[in-house]
Amino acid sequence: MNHSIKVTHHTYWLGANDHQTDLFESLWPLPKGVTYNCYLIDDEKTALIDTVKGPFLTQLVEKLKGLLGERPLDYLVVNHMEPDHSGAIKLLRCVYPQLKIIGNVQTKGMLENFYALTENIQIVKDGDTLDLGKHTLSFHLVPMVHWPETMVTYDHSTKTLFSCDAFGGFGSLDGGLFDDELDMQYYEDEVLRYFSNIVGRYSPQVQKAIEKLKGLDISIVAPSHGPIHRKNPGRIITLYDRWSRNETECGAVIVFGSMYGNTQKMAETVARAMAEEGIEKMAYHDISRSHVSYVVKDIWKYKGLILASCTYNTTLFPPMADLIMHLKNKMMKGRMVGILGSYSWSKGALAELQNFADSGDWELVQPTVEVKSAPFEEDLEKCMELGRKMAQKMKMCYVPGMK
Ligand code: FEO
Repeated sequence: MNHSIKVTHHTYWLGANDHQTDLFESLWPLPKGVTYNCYLIDDEKTALIDTVKGPFLTQLVEKLKGLLGERPLDYLVVNHMEPDHSGAIKLLRCVYPQLKIIGNVQTKGMLENFYALTENIQIVKDGDTLDLGKHTLSFHLVPMVHWPETMVTYDHSTKTLFSCDAFGGFGSLDGGLFDDELDMQYYEDEVLRYFSNIVGRYSPQVQKAIEKLKGLDISIVAPSHGPIHRKNPGRIITLYDRWSRNETECGAVIVFGSMYGNTQKMAETVARAMAEEGIEKMAYHDISRSHVSYVVKDIWKYKGLILASCTYNTTLFPPMADLIMHLKNKMMKGRMVGILGSYSWSKGALAELQNFADSGDWELVQPTVEVKSAPFEEDLEKCMELGRKMAQKMKMCYVPGMK
């Protein structure tokens, strides 16, 4: 969208849709692109909340000039310094040389380290305010959601929370901008993929942030990626609260790494047993073909996880090893895991999966199953037993009063 869009009184979206970047942070696939949202408050004093990734500077300046004409841009509020939001700052300063940058003490160091900017920076502390005329902004530090300098900005006049990465997700906004204009089922799933892969590791800090924001009367949540929430701002905050509490749904993710189908057969047998026990929600991933970001997203969502891996050169199948590395990094809590391994001439996979299951806050569901070459009837019966046990334990967790 090459024009600004009014969000609320004197407040405009000046973001950019990025369809060129195929991997966010050079890691996470963007099948439908991503937005970099930033916002102008056009008051007696003018303030831009965050910027865009560097290549979209021209679009941003065109939109600013379209709204401001020759009037100055007085302030730039920097909620977060990751370059998808800060990448345009240095050149924006060339367009608006008098621009005062608002950030916290952590922001200041990053402005110097990234862009050699040291002048005309106003440092704010938690709770400080900035009067623009009719609008008063307050700044709320939410460190490690997901960088040290992260903060959010609240407009007391419009009750709008500019939350930057928090509550944001993948997917561009090519027409619709607000939650009442979009297929939110798709976008909420992409918010969860963003949360689980990028922010989720910092769930304790997310919880602190949500607690801190409880004192604000929020009518609009305006993140820096994805839809703006004006119809139901409480919903996205509630989802974030649940995800960062590690609240899960009664369902399971089955992930297998299989070269010739034997390990897949074991995984399918476990899934069959869970289905027979009444588990309806199951996500099934061939780890050689599903991108890890979608697997992590589903694992964040559900209570149960089955990991089935063949052995490769005496250790885990490489795509499974990559998933394990990601899972250790996310520090999830309160989930159950069942493990299956297979090998041809040297054991390895099951021991690695056992190490993983023992390393974090996972409840290991028995039996573990290890098969040489191909599973036979007695092996598959053990897989059925694992599936039944996993299903029964899960159902116990979701019986009211038995958690
Ligand atoms: Fe959207 Fe942490 O940057």
